[in-house]
Amino acid sequence: MTDSKIIVALDFPDETSTMQMVDRINPELCRLKIGKELFTRCGPDLVKKIVNSGYDVFLDLKYHDIPNTVANACKAAADLGVWMMNVHALGGPAMLNAARNALSDSDSPLLIAVTILTSSSDDDLKAVGINQGIKDMVNRLALLSKDQGLDGVVCSAQEASDLKSALGHDFILVTPGIRLPADDAGDQKRIVSPTDAVRQGSDYLVIGRPITQADDPVQKLLTINSEISQL
Ligand code: C5P
Repeated sequence: MTDSKIIVALDFPDETSTMQMVDRINPELCRLKIGKELFTRCGPDLVKKIVNSGYDVFLDLKYHDIPNTVANACKAAADLGVWMMNVHALGGPAMLNAARNALSDSDSPLLIAVTILTSSSDDDLKAVGINQGIKDMVNRLALLSKDQGLDGVVCSAQEASDLKSALGHDFILVTPGIRLPADDAGDQKRIVSPTDAVRQGSDYLVIGRPITQADDPVQKLLTINSEISQL
């Protein structure tokens, strides 16, 4: 198992391009994230294949359903041997509790919650009847997740410092939106560098295109690992 804080987002459309990347890098340099696009196209067999290649896999399917369904989906994900998985905190306390109880063995995957998606604005929340601002909602949902025994949340690195202070060192913060100064921001708006994210309290950095589209992904991983290990 690696001690790298980097989780590479495998945002590829098919198994061939995914495995080309997986085979280019190695499990000592990073962990890997499989999301809805790749899972929907390639399914659990590809998850097992990547787990069997020795990688810690974060299965990013963001479950949000009735408690019984989420609990059973969590058990199915755990059976794939993944290292981390997630649910939506907006599913509420009973759903979070059911997910936690479904993953209560000592070798269960880490269970984290999505608070408010970083693509949402205050206006989006109002449109669905939530009149509290994003920052308050993120804090509220992170606290709820902690109260229900979850291991951590996904958040912006810009929120990490406040959440660490409020929720304690052991509550895991996973942050996407990471860019080195020379990287193209792409569609990410609130970007933070790897070193700043770790300084703010991020435990794991989700990084996609800056690594997967790099000319030399291994060199890029080595550079970022080295920068953050010096902190
Ligand atoms: O390529 P890039 O580094 O922008 O990829 C970021 C990854 O993190 C993508 O897989 C994206 O779906 C995911 N993510 C995100 N923002 C969130 C939650 C997940 O960018 N709030």
